[in-house]
Amino acid sequence: GITRNFSNSTSLNAIKTVTVVGGGLMGSGIAQVAAQAGQNVTIIDLKPESLEKAEKSIQNNLNRVARKAYKDDPAKIEAFVKEASDRIKVSTKIEDGVNVDLIVEAIVERLDVKQELFNKLDQLCPEHTILASNTSSISINEIGAGIKRKDRFGGLHFFNPVPVMRLLEVIKGDHISEETYQTMMAWGKSVGKTCITCKDTPGFVVNRLLGPYSAEALRMYERGDASKEDIDIGMKLGASLPMGPLELADYTGLDTNKFVLQVLYEKTNNPVFKPIDLLEKMVADGKLGIKTGEGFYKYTK
Ligand code: NAI
Repeated sequence: GITRNFSNSTSLNAIKTVTVVGGGLMGSGIAQVAAQAGQNVTIIDLKPESLEKAEKSIQNNLNRVARKAYKDDPAKIEAFVKEASDRIKVSTKIEDGVNVDLIVEAIVERLDVKQELFNKLDQLCPEHTILASNTSSISINEIGAGIKRKDRFGGLHFFNPVPVMRLLEVIKGDHISEETYQTMMAWGKSVGKTCITCKDTPGFVVNRLLGPYSAEALRMYERGDASKEDIDIGMKLGASLPMGPLELADYTGLDTNKFVLQVLYEKTNNPVFKPIDLLEKMVADGKLGIKTGEGFYKYTK
């Protein structure tokens, strides 16, 4: 009989099922964009309460997306939210998430914990499963040091908030195959992101460049060269950025900012990343930005 051959490489490699391990801030966002794109998603987290929170926040976000897309059509809004959330399953057992095309890890930022997880996934997953980490500060090669499928492994670095930020950094480990790399790029596009590629280097593209900029802004304010408002207005109106550097630090969290600079300093030895007294003090005082109600600016709920 006649068999039609669909096996061009895109359809062959298309990701249809995804597991996200770690259902926190980033993992819930990654699960949401994949479900919105029509993929079946499983979220795995150690804590049942994290899974509950993830399901709630995804539901809220999907509602927001749907209301924007289908303004005056409550039936369509409801259908969109239901279809997308029906594609998401959750579990506390890793075994429930291993039989998929792609696994994206978004758990705690610790090398030993990530290595343990990837070693386990390498054993449990079928041959074809691609493994990826959303780490922002740990080396991809180190995370995958103990796995056998090094050709089917890489970094997929999303930005917070995942459903809103348009970028995805695809990180090439030393042993990634061209096929895996192309599949990861195509998947990123399928979930609505513009993908850029970077080697496994400290901070990848965005954080490596944002670090010095943010550090210099903090030092400028510390020296009293200009007021915080003028530093922020300067970069918004003079460089067409949506937020100034101090507003951005408040948004990201000053603890995260300090952590990113610290890691970059350890890994590159570039003095631009050296600790900044003002930042150390603000973090010690619990002035972490929006999440604590005060950073460079004050915030009321
Ligand atoms: P989070 O703390 O909001 O979520 C982490 C989740 O992982 C928690 O729900 C926790 O219960 C769960 N978890 C921890 N260990 C686990 C394990 N062994 N197995 C299963 N679940 C486990 O953290 P967040 O902010 O979502 O970060 C996750 C990853 O994403 C980290 O590697 C971080 O560096 C990276 N990342 C974070 C960004 C951010 O802006 N927060 C941006 C880009 C990447």
